[in-house]
Amino acid sequence: MIKVGVIGFGTVGQGVVESLVQLERGLRKEVTLEMLLVTNRRKHEHSEQYALVTDDWETFAARYYDVVFEAAGGIEPVYDYVRFFLKKGVPVVTANKKLVAERGEELERLAAENDTYLCYEAAVAGGIPILNAIKGTLATTSFTSVAGILNGTTNYILTGMIEQNRPFQDMLEEAQAKGYAEADPTDDIEGYDAWYKIRILARLCFGIWPNRDDISRSGLHDVLDWHVELGQSLGLTLKLDGRASVKNNTIIGSVAPAFFTNDHPFSTVYGVTNAVVLEGKAIERLLFTGPGAGKEATANSMVEDYLFHERYKGERQPMLIKEKEQNRIANVLVMV
Ligand code: NDP
Ligand code: HSE
Repeated sequence: MIKVGVIGFGTVGQGVVESLVQLERGLRKEVTLEMLLVTNRRKHEHSEQYALVTDDWETFAARYYDVVFEAAGGIEPVYDYVRFFLKKGVPVVTANKKLVAERGEELERLAAENDTYLCYEAAVAGGIPILNAIKGTLATTSFTSVAGILNGTTNYILTGMIEQNRPFQDMLEEAQAKGYAEADPTDDIEGYDAWYKIRILARLCFGIWPNRDDISRSGLHDVLDWHVELGQSLGLTLKLDGRASVKNNTIIGSVAPAFFTNDHPFSTVYGVTNAVVLEGKAIERLLFTGPGAGKEATANSMVEDYLFHERYKGERQPMLIKEKEQNRIANVLVMV
């Protein structure tokens, strides 16, 4: 029997709980939901899971779990919660891009020291299995660049503005109602969310964490209606673009609004869809597209992420082997 703990019971946490049947099928073992941690238990009194909901960390931490899914978001206090479980050797599956971008290096080290793992496929590009593709089937591939439309909310807003002439605020409210936006949508609008994601992608593609100052960030906050209209009149489509590559032995990159010509694959990525393009000598250009946010897509990613990492368990630290491989690539990049 596999005992599951879930931190956060909002859009993503509820998706994870609804996907436990899928987890059971994947593991071929009985799965039980042990407990759910939230900030305000009373908010959940109409939920079927109410009896399992707590807002007391000590109560949650006192239970035994085989795996913990983290879908709360932010750094404090979640960072301490994740550390607590990794120190106990419990694997943690997270969708929290901010936590991973800002503390991932340390948390991965802590996980390895305690013979467990932190996995975070759902933190980048929601339903697109891009991280495990890079860690898995592309583990020894040398990349020259990575780029993407990495924020579903801003792409949803821009699509409504461009395709339906809808106001920015209407589209933002719709994205929030659909559960795509961050708890504080400033994270989406000002480009922070995409900035965390491109830093995570860069780390996996190039084997080392980029310096946060070497990836610049701007968002949609300076974009005005006439910018969008001007682009349209010139046959260009405005997107929030994130990209990273290696130059002079350093990972550099940016998150910024950018115009794409209509023959560029990003120009036809609509709504909450995300896209990632990986480039390298051997692969030329690989394009991945899929749902960038939303309950089902994100929960599916978290469940598959756990199953993916459990499948390699017998090999003991498969991710570390792949990381070494990627570091070797990074070293090659550094040497040339
Ligand atoms: P929600 O705001 O819908 O839900 C957050 C949940 O976490 C709530 O249940 C909240 O409790 C709980 N929570 C917040 N802070 C704490 C805390 N300190 N301790 C315990 N519980 C806490 O967020 P989402 O589900 O949308 O997002 C969760 C995470 O998933 C974020 O990191 C986000 O970036 C990421 N993500 C979201 C996607 C999406 O489509 N929404 C897609 C991919 C990743 P309470 O119910 O009491 O308020
Ligand atoms: N707020 C994020 C987005 C959720 O809109 O892309 C998915 O990471």
